[in-house]
Amino acid sequence: MKTLVIVAHPNLEASRVNKAWIEELKKQGEYTIHEIYKAYPDENIDVAKEQALVEAHDRVIFQFPVFWYSAPALLKKWFDTVLQYGWAFGPDGDKTAGKEFGVAVSTYGTEESYQATGFNRFTVQEILRPFEATAHFISATYLPHFTLNDVSNLSDERLAQSSADYVQHLKSVKPLANV
Ligand SMILES: Cc1cc2nc3c(=O)[nH]c(=O)nc-3n(C[C@H](O)[C@H](O)[C@H](O)COP(=O)(O)O)c2cc1C
Repeated sequence: MKTLVIVAHPNLEASRVNKAWIEELKKQGEYTIHEIYKAYPDENIDVAKEQALVEAHDRVIFQFPVFWYSAPALLKKWFDTVLQYGWAFGPDGDKTAGKEFGVAVSTYGTEESYQATGFNRFTVQEILRPFEATAHFISATYLPHFTLNDVSNLSDERLAQSSADYVQHLKSVKPLANV
């Protein structure tokens, strides 16, 4: 299983969580880590290069801090430009078919806040529905997501544990059974 991790963080120097996760993934030596804000400082995405990267992997994980209940803008642009008609869908658009797509996110909000009765009103799974729906549209299999909540109250120990949990998640995650 070849895994591509597409990281979308506009300021990794100032990041605590996503930076630590990347460092832990790099130690494993088996993941292709692609930081799109670093690759495209002018936000001009090389679509052919991105498509080739996806084609060369079995699984794509989108890793990002939640911004306004969604992803940082360059990742939306990535979806808008890379997942083309005739490549990801439509006639002969079968390049993403059968691949696994997953999401790993950090949030400021606590776990309790991401509930129907909590401050954010929706669960993290619910706010990630556009990713799930997109995966379905392009015939990819959506994986259960990985989350770290409450990042403003984050001890070094909890951060280290979440990095280890993230690696474990990538090793063991399986698509949800279709019902
Ligand atoms: C523009 C912006 C929007 C944000 N929107 C949300 C949000 O909707 N929900 C949330 O829980 N956190 C939100 N946050 C907090 C980030 O998710 C949080 O700072 C990030 O996950 C920390 O990860 P890092 O240490 O890798 O930077 C937002 C932060 C910024 C800068």
